[in-house]
Amino acid sequence: MNALNLGPGLALPLADVVGQCVAILGIRGSGKSNTAGVIFEELLAAHYPMSIVDIDGEYFGLKEKYEVLVVGSGENVDVELDMAAAGEVADLSLHEGVPVILDVSDMLADERERFLLEYLTRIWALAGKLRKPYMIGIEECHEFIPQGVRTDLKEVIARIALRGRKRGLGAVVISQRSAKVEKDVLTQAGMLFLHRVVHEADMRVYGELLPWRRLEAKETVSQLGVGECIFMSGSTARKVKIRLRHTFHGGYTPSFRAVESPKLRQVRSRILDALARARSVAPPVAVGPQPSPREDPRARPVDPPLASAPIADAPDPPAPDAELPGPVLLRVDRLLRRLNRLPPVKRRLVAFLVEREPNTYTTSELASWIDCAEAALLAEPPTELVDLGLIVQERFARGLAYRAALRQYVAEAFAGFAAELGPEGTRRLIAHLRHRLACISTAERNLVHTP
Ligand SMILES: Nc1ncnc2c1ncn2[C@@H]1O[C@H](COP(=O)(O)OP(=O)(O)OP(=O)(O)O)[C@@H](O)[C@H]1O
Ligand SMILES: [Mg+2]
Repeated sequence: MNALNLGPGLALPLADVVGQCVAILGIRGSGKSNTAGVIFEELLAAHYPMSIVDIDGEYFGLKEKYEVLVVGSGENVDVELDMAAAGEVADLSLHEGVPVILDVSDMLADERERFLLEYLTRIWALAGKLRKPYMIGIEECHEFIPQGVRTDLKEVIARIALRGRKRGLGAVVISQRSAKVEKDVLTQAGMLFLHRVVHEADMRVYGELLPWRRLEAKETVSQLGVGECIFMSGSTARKVKIRLRHTFHGGYTPSFRAVESPKLRQVRSRILDALARARSVAPPVAVGPQPSPREDPRARPVDPPLASAPIADAPDPPAPDAELPGPVLLRVDRLLRRLNRLPPVKRRLVAFLVEREPNTYTTSELASWIDCAEAALLAEPPTELVDLGLIVQERFARGLAYRAALRQYVAEAFAGFAAELGPEGTRRLIAHLRHRLACISTAERNLVHTP
């Protein structure tokens, strides 16, 4: 296969992608991750090796169809991995051409930064010797290559994106905050997929990138639907529609088992060996006097800095989390991170309902309580929250209504911990969750979008 089929009338010659910097931008929900997922699917189908930095644990679904090794610390990893073996995995991936997803969704920002620095520095060095096509995918890239801030990690990523070509290295960088991404990377990207943006600062960035008159660019961009984008390659730009991913778009569904080839199993066991070796030779990298966050998840900040949702320093009253097991708290953190990415209205909705469980509220009651238009609630129902099982939708003669269902949610989502928690632990977990979810809206009140 020599072309990547990304959508109707959009087949990119594979050769054009080698060593390329591809930027995918757009607001939340505009289809960026789907576009990236489609590019990765097509690259995988062409046996193009890569590493995807997955900060939300949403790419493991690629395993449904392709041979990919998921390493890191999230819920769906094949191999739990820490700093000690980051370099070795990078070596294996590049040498053996094994696609790797680096699931860093459960790592703290600092831990993640060091892990990626180690990993990508090794990729850069090795690519200099091997010089074969290899792609790095980075979600929420404004967190790693922020405009106007200098870090070692940013330096290595920018180097890969801007100067990787000679080594065969390319990058797919994805962000919902165009204005916050290092300008050099965007202006020098060879391919851009510009999904819808609305904020003026993001629109200005598009204006600088697109070869169109500002007004024309603005008009076209503001009319883009989900999955539509302006595709720009070199100096030509046109509107395109990206196809949907064939593989599962990860999110809430916890696990499925993909078929694993002997080759992948072999690599996996070698990674495990390498990990064991690394652990027996070198102690884990010191993190200062405190216990490592993985040992004590309660040491995590309540919500790691969210790119899309800069939570101002809202007071965080002590959560009733005493004596909940670490893995349970990790899972709660994960849920909170996910919910923090929802639009403010939906966060207010869940906070409101959990605080008043088991009361049921119609959309018109909710609209006045949480201060939004009822039409908005009807046009964009809280499907994600219903799918998650956190809230339940009911249909009355007076209209649609919602109520929280924390007890049921915990029974299902934490079923694996039921025996360990027992009735008392489960009760504490529900109280803890209720408290944390209620705080989501307190934090949100201070939320301003500052592109
Ligand atoms: N090309 C497409 N065709 C049809 N539907 C799409 C397409 N791309 C995305 N969607 C729909 O939009 C939803 C959101 O897409 P996606 O998760 O890719 O957005 P995103 O921009 O990455 O959002 P976020 O910023 O929240 O990560 C998908 O779950 C899917 O239902
Ligand atoms: Mg996304």
